[in-house]
Amino acid sequence: MDDAILNEEQSLKHIPSVSRPATALDGLMEEISGRWSSRAIDAERSVSWEVLERLIEAARWAPSAMNGQPWRFMSFGPEDSHALEQARRVLKPGNAWAKNAPRLLFVMAKKNRGDTEKPNALAMYETGMAMGQMGIQAVREGLVFHQMAGIDRDHFRMLFSIPENLEVVVGVALAFPGSVATVPEERQELETAPRQRHMPKQIHAMNGDIPQ
Ligand SMILES: Cc1cc2nc3c(=O)[nH]c(=O)nc-3n(C[C@H](O)[C@H](O)[C@H](O)COP(=O)(O)O)c2cc1C
Repeated sequence: MDDAILNEEQSLKHIPSVSRPATALDGLMEEISGRWSSRAIDAERSVSWEVLERLIEAARWAPSAMNGQPWRFMSFGPEDSHALEQARRVLKPGNAWAKNAPRLLFVMAKKNRGDTEKPNALAMYETGMAMGQMGIQAVREGLVFHQMAGIDRDHFRMLFSIPENLEVVVGVALAFPGSVATVPEERQELETAPRQRHMPKQIHAMNGDIPQ
């Protein structure tokens, strides 16, 4: 590894387990360049109520159209081991690694506006904004914060009697970083592989040009 990358890594204070900073432009917030989705978690170290509260707070202050705030969260932890065990069963086989997480969070989006039946077409977008903020706060807390689309939504709905107007969006593994050795072998390489992104010109164009 070259010195420049090493120095960049050493300057990052808030990073989960293995450091995998994005090769990003100077000036990017460390919490953004240092965020990544690790699967190496410490099963023994719980995520306290105080930490969870700050994550929810980060999401709570996200913007939304007409301040509709459609995001809803259900969290499961050691305070109710039965419910946590039930929530773990919702993880699809590819996310079995997340069963080690001491806390699971499920994210839902309220599909209707207020008390009306009027649909909120932006509910998923706005909930994603809240999750973006939560993810950044999670980096500041030194947490592994790994979102998962690989959940059985119908099973979750059934287990916890989720009403129709809530869309179940993702599950999130919340944990403190642990050893890479705890990650299933076929996924260990992902813990250290170089991180990939489209180039800026592929996602942004100016003055009427279409991004590639
Ligand atoms: C909405 C969403 C769903 C995801 N679903 C899964 C999942 O089911 N299992 C998993 O291991 N990772 C999942 N991820 C993590 C992505 O694979 C990861 O964010 C992506 O590869 C980019 O890597 P990075 O987060 O480390 O930058 C998901 C991420 C998001 C935002």
